[in-house]
Amino acid sequence: MPAAKGSPLESLENKNLHRILKKLLQQASFGQRGDAPLQLLDIACGECREAETLVQVARELRGENQRQPIRFVGTDLRDREVEDAARRFRSNADTTYDFITENAEHLDRHQELGKDFDLAFIRHQNFWLGATPWKRIFEQGLEKLSDDGLLVITSYFDREHELALGAIAEAGGELIVTERHQESIHLAYPGKSVDRHVAVFRKKS
Ligand SMILES: C[S@@+](CC[C@H](N)C(=O)[O-])C[C@H]1O[C@@H](n2cnc3c(N)ncnc32)[C@H](O)[C@@H]1O
Repeated sequence: MPAAKGSPLESLENKNLHRILKKLLQQASFGQRGDAPLQLLDIACGECREAETLVQVARELRGENQRQPIRFVGTDLRDREVEDAARRFRSNADTTYDFITENAEHLDRHQELGKDFDLAFIRHQNFWLGATPWKRIFEQGLEKLSDDGLLVITSYFDREHELALGAIAEAGGELIVTERHQESIHLAYPGKSVDRHVAVFRKKS
């Protein structure tokens, strides 16, 4: 069960995510792109509990160019979750939010999204539910990146993470860093914890 939405536990999970993500993205030189908007794609985002955290990390890393606007796109298979996210996150002067209901195996149907994202993020990837579809989702994430864009995944389980790392390498990703998240909060299932592993990839050149 995920933490209740808006609960102190959820906010602790996001605080922990913020800390590790900022550290790893900094190591990977995220967001060094002059004046162009910073573009974030959250794939299989569900209710997109992580949207605010991702935007906040991007804001903190956009460096000297504090006026660089942020474009956030969240997408998931499930209508109800996507609608819920769209209700909670509204565009403002700094950040535009768009939410799309789609099977992420077919993100290439959405040419309007472009292929210039600085970050494609998949929190709690579900590789164990189907190797073939998830490999395809990883390919689609890499496809949407700019040349120096980054694909980041987080995983609930050790073995599932290991398998996903292999699948992303096969899909054309080059691993920059992977870290076992020491502050990861344990869940009521053996070996499962929130953002237990976080890995950052670039596209193989
Ligand atoms: C473990 S949940 C993670 C949700 C969210 N990222 C989080 O960490 O709270 C996995 C998500 O993947 C979505 N999903 C599974 N297969 C998908 C697909 N083919 N296309 C898009 N979303 C998919 C599910 O609907 C679900 O929201």
